[in-house]
Amino acid sequence: MSFADLGLMPELLKAVTDAGYAEPTPIQAQAIPIILAGKDVMGGAQTGTGKTAGFTLPLLQRLSRHANTSPSPARHPVRALILTPTRELAMQVHESVVTYSKHLALRSVVIYGGVDMRAQMEQLRLGREIVVATPGRLLDHVEQKTVNFGAVEVLVLDEADRMLDMGFIPDVKRILALLPKERQSLLFSATFSEEIKRLADSMLRNPQLIEVARRNAAADNITHRVHPVAQDLKRQVLAHLIKTQDLGQVLVFVATKFGASRLAHYLGRMGISADAIHGDKSQQQRTEALEAFKAGRVSVLVATDVAARGLDVEDLPQVINFELPHTPEDYIHRIGRTGRAGKSGTAVSLVCAEERGRLAEIEKLLKRPLEQVKLEGFEAGAEFKEPLERGKRGRTAAHGSTPPAPAPRGAKPGREPRRGPPPPAARAAPARPGATPDFDWRKPYEPAPDSFIEPPLPIPPRPGHKPRRQIAALLGGLPKKNE
Ligand SMILES: Nc1ncnc2c1ncn2[C@@H]1O[C@H](COP(=O)(O)OP(=O)(O)OP(=O)(O)O)[C@@H](O)[C@H]1O
Ligand SMILES: [Mg+2]
Repeated sequence: MSFADLGLMPELLKAVTDAGYAEPTPIQAQAIPIILAGKDVMGGAQTGTGKTAGFTLPLLQRLSRHANTSPSPARHPVRALILTPTRELAMQVHESVVTYSKHLALRSVVIYGGVDMRAQMEQLRLGREIVVATPGRLLDHVEQKTVNFGAVEVLVLDEADRMLDMGFIPDVKRILALLPKERQSLLFSATFSEEIKRLADSMLRNPQLIEVARRNAAADNITHRVHPVAQDLKRQVLAHLIKTQDLGQVLVFVATKFGASRLAHYLGRMGISADAIHGDKSQQQRTEALEAFKAGRVSVLVATDVAARGLDVEDLPQVINFELPHTPEDYIHRIGRTGRAGKSGTAVSLVCAEERGRLAEIEKLLKRPLEQVKLEGFEAGAEFKEPLERGKRGRTAAHGSTPPAPAPRGAKPGREPRRGPPPPAARAAPARPGATPDFDWRKPYEPAPDSFIEPPLPIPPRPGHKPRRQIAALLGGLPKKNE
């Protein structure tokens, strides 16, 4: 099977050859012809198996009939929208769009928060067919009327289950309400829970479900290892593992932003070059930390779940869970930063007695036990072997048949820090059948306090520009569209 067999046009075949891809991965082989045929797709495939090219290549081909080199912005309306949960992932997906579209006259832009809006506004004003964005900042542009979705033909939700969970669904719903109803929608992720799949199904038209492996499977070229350790010895164990394994690069996941910074400092004091990436850092610091890690200038990156999804660090040999994540899907995504593009990788987890419930949930999702290796001198106490109490197994009761309890806006792991907790009106909103319980469909969008616009920008009048409507009317008046 070759890329040419999938019906891709010469410009895209040249781009994949330039990228060094010899043949399509299984998800690419299955998804590309179906997306080219214009169908809605929900695509699940393990981490690191090329889902990005799986949706981007056919998307570019479908837009190629609009390719043109005219300088007129009117000839370059937004035709495709790709949404991602984090800024770093938006940047990376945009890089892929640029790579795969380099022989086509299509323009793209990446839109994310934490940086000045003006450069983004200027690019949007000049006309861009493809917008890769995080939802919050995209809504800031909607509010500023610097983006128009009237000509959108394709919508992609990368990390779709994350985009449709409690932390993102309100913003995503608001964006969906602004898109033409007649469009192609593509949802991709390495994990889909049943409830997310049901919610997604209701958003799609006769969706084609493509699953190249059992749902929620971890990539099979990753070796998992659990070290049962005492909680108070974890830092020493981590430093010991990093020093003795001589791995070059290690991505370490922790539970909190504060914990990430503190652990990076500790490793620094131990003579290990380490930096941290989390939502409380400025975007510049986040970008610099990730770039230094990718370039090998820093050997350990300590991260919150902001780095769990989608990020592609070439040849990363090992991921360490300093703490286990609260949901087993996050384990699959975190460890999926290694063992990508056919390479092998190791996923190490330091697990203390209090985390046995989470470990049990992960093993349940993976449908197999993970190998436990004792580290001499650092072992967990006898309580690690004690049977788990009822009710302490893994996630809270909220998980499973119902979605997890809502977190304040901006407080979810991986979510861009942008707004405060929801106003009381949103919390009091009655849930509709099939709707996410706490989402208030009537609530108008509120601009972010941290939109990085100072002072208010003069928006240049455009020819034929209609008088501005209140954003509340624009968005609050549309809730029915999306049901
Ligand atoms: N056909 C191919 N042949 C070789 N390498 C490929 C191919 N397609 C994609 N890749 C490479 O594989 C790596 C992983 O791709 P990508 O980031 O799209 O994975 P993914 O499935 O989206 O993973 P995740 O679930 O973690 O987001 C990238 O470095 C990409 O360049
Ligand atoms: Mg991906």
